[in-house]
Amino acid sequence: MSTVFLNGEFLPKEEAKISPDDRGFLLADGVYEVTPFYQGVPFGLDRHLARLRKGLEWMRIDYDVDSLDAMHRHLISENGLGDAETSLVYLQITRGAAPRTHYFPTGDVTPTVYAYAKAWQRPTEERWNQGFTAALVPDRRWGRVDIKTICLLPNAMAFQQAIDCGMDDAILVKDGVAIEGAHMNLWAVIDGVAITHPRTQHILPGITRGVVLEEAAAHGVAVEERPIMVEELGNAQEMFYTGTTGEVRPCVSIDGAPVGDGQVGPVTRRLSELFRGRVDAVTEAGKAAAG
Ligand code: PDD
Repeated sequence: MSTVFLNGEFLPKEEAKISPDDRGFLLADGVYEVTPFYQGVPFGLDRHLARLRKGLEWMRIDYDVDSLDAMHRHLISENGLGDAETSLVYLQITRGAAPRTHYFPTGDVTPTVYAYAKAWQRPTEERWNQGFTAALVPDRRWGRVDIKTICLLPNAMAFQQAIDCGMDDAILVKDGVAIEGAHMNLWAVIDGVAITHPRTQHILPGITRGVVLEEAAAHGVAVEERPIMVEELGNAQEMFYTGTTGEVRPCVSIDGAPVGDGQVGPVTRRLSELFRGRVDAVTEAGKAAAG
């Protein structure tokens, strides 16, 4: 039986009750985070909490995220995931339960804070080496996708459309630009340079993306943050996604056409190695600090 966190308490999932008046349920009025753990050690938790804090401030939800660091660690250990190679905590904060109005509720409403932990699995090396496929799908999301809100219907529709086309994932396209995936950031390697969309209101500023940019800079891998036009993809030698649970994920074909030679390329492999190296270093340091 899994233990979840709800409004300050750890309890069995079966006992977690959320009001049908919750504005998350009625209006998708909330934000969320997904933070990875490796062998029980969080990776980038401070960055995930900082992104969450920003989102809450922007949405004018008054909640102090400081206590959530300990909550994450406790949830992982309570669920016996301390030894799991890869696990995660999903956390969601909504504006809370109040009579339904489109405008914010007047008076004091307590935000609803819910979290659960679970294990996840990396693809096997063999599967990763085959690479993944993608479909181009229109980006129908709103104008502030840099805020990690729970309004994920356009992402879900896009992902499903890709699956219906027999592909593994989607590439969201807006005004001729390949913006990002349905749940991961997107990169293309053109003339040896790894390109990814700049941090604007049109992408979610992925924590994985940020770490990959840092690792690339530290190890002399050429990167550029600029929009990737769909028409350029025909010239790309490689493509890959980055995200929590996806890590660095090669994309070898788009709508059935191979990217480059259709194989996982050297820049993707290098950045994946660097990312995994960073994860391993953080994990070892976290385990040493815990004794
Ligand atoms: N997805 N872009 C989108 C649209 C995302 O939803 C995500 C994260 C990312 C990558 O961000 P990060 O590297 O911080 O995980 C990019 C999460 C994991 C999800 O919805 O489950």
